[in-house]
Amino acid sequence: MVKRFETIAVHAGAEPDPDTGAVAPPIHLSTTFVHGPESERIHDHYYIRESNPTQARLETALAAVESGEVALAFASGLAAAATAMQALPPGSHVIVADDGYYDVRTIATEFLPRWGGTSSLVDVTDLDAVARAMRKETKLLFVESPSNPLMKIADIAALADIAHGGGASLIVDNTFATPVLQRPLELGADCVMHSTTKFIGGHGDVHGGALVFRKGGPWVDEAFHVRKVLGGVAAPFASWLVLRGLRTLACRVDRHAANALAVARALEGHANVEAVHYPGLASDPGHALARRQMSAFGGMLSFRVRGGRAAAVDVVSRLKVFTVATSLGGTESLIEHRRSSEGPTSTTPDTLLRASIGLENEADLIDDLAQALG
Ligand SMILES: Cc1ncc(COP(=O)(O)O)c(C=O)c1O
Repeated sequence: MVKRFETIAVHAGAEPDPDTGAVAPPIHLSTTFVHGPESERIHDHYYIRESNPTQARLETALAAVESGEVALAFASGLAAAATAMQALPPGSHVIVADDGYYDVRTIATEFLPRWGGTSSLVDVTDLDAVARAMRKETKLLFVESPSNPLMKIADIAALADIAHGGGASLIVDNTFATPVLQRPLELGADCVMHSTTKFIGGHGDVHGGALVFRKGGPWVDEAFHVRKVLGGVAAPFASWLVLRGLRTLACRVDRHAANALAVARALEGHANVEAVHYPGLASDPGHALARRQMSAFGGMLSFRVRGGRAAAVDVVSRLKVFTVATSLGGTESLIEHRRSSEGPTSTTPDTLLRASIGLENEADLIDDLAQALG
């Protein structure tokens, strides 16, 4: 029987506990598992840095929702991103989206050289620029769509063709879109990365990350080895919370996306707003492409306030329903002046506010922004 996304998200990795019949999954806290006298494996698990039963349930579910063959869960999104790069052969070159999450760029520019690799930051919405940046030692294109924080849309299928034509793999950070709205592996990507801290966890109370691979192979084996030896593995309680979030992801993302579209439309018409970055708006440069590769446009948006940095910061200070905090994907709407959050290396415009649109009533969010914008 063919199962649809919502059904998969509820049931994947959700078999009742074989020992007790418990329907809600148990949290296995044991760090070690009985083995034979010469370390022979007699159970599925051996030591927690390698795997544990709660994490294994989560990995089964993550692989299923992204239509991948293998998933690896991590302690954070950045542990997942770093592992994807550390698992490449020595001397590899990586192309990274110039508007990707800023600390993914830090891994590429600051840490990859320490590990014997190189990187180029490229506008991945410009396919010619990506093709020109490819080198014979390029092993990975690391892209994000929509991007953080400018909400740029990259053509995943075309980037997969460029990567594969040059013998490289494509990884897509699918944190903003979630598998509910965008399926990178079905568009040709080789791996999907998530900060599960965000929409998948969904409640702002768990830190986690994931890599989901289209199929097994040497890159996956090496990523597993890196995770096991360097230890960026997901803890049992964190795995349990992410899994719990995943069960309601489809309903939540529908509401996040509907609210964000309503807020983006309201902002677009406001005299004190210079630009709104949201791929769901017909005026957005990524709209046509987003309509092709996403089923809706997600809960994230950013906008530029007229009047310079001080005016933008003033808007943040006047908001009452939005919470002023970094991160995204939780039940409550969050907003921040992104450039000050990213720090001195930020290339984000000074008037840009990034908002994670939550599950409140959309009219309350629109009213709050209207009173803050004046
Ligand atoms: C798009 C994106 N990718 C990766 C990360 C990093 O994830 P984590 O904070 O879970 O390490 C974030 C965090 O904000 C993000 O927004």
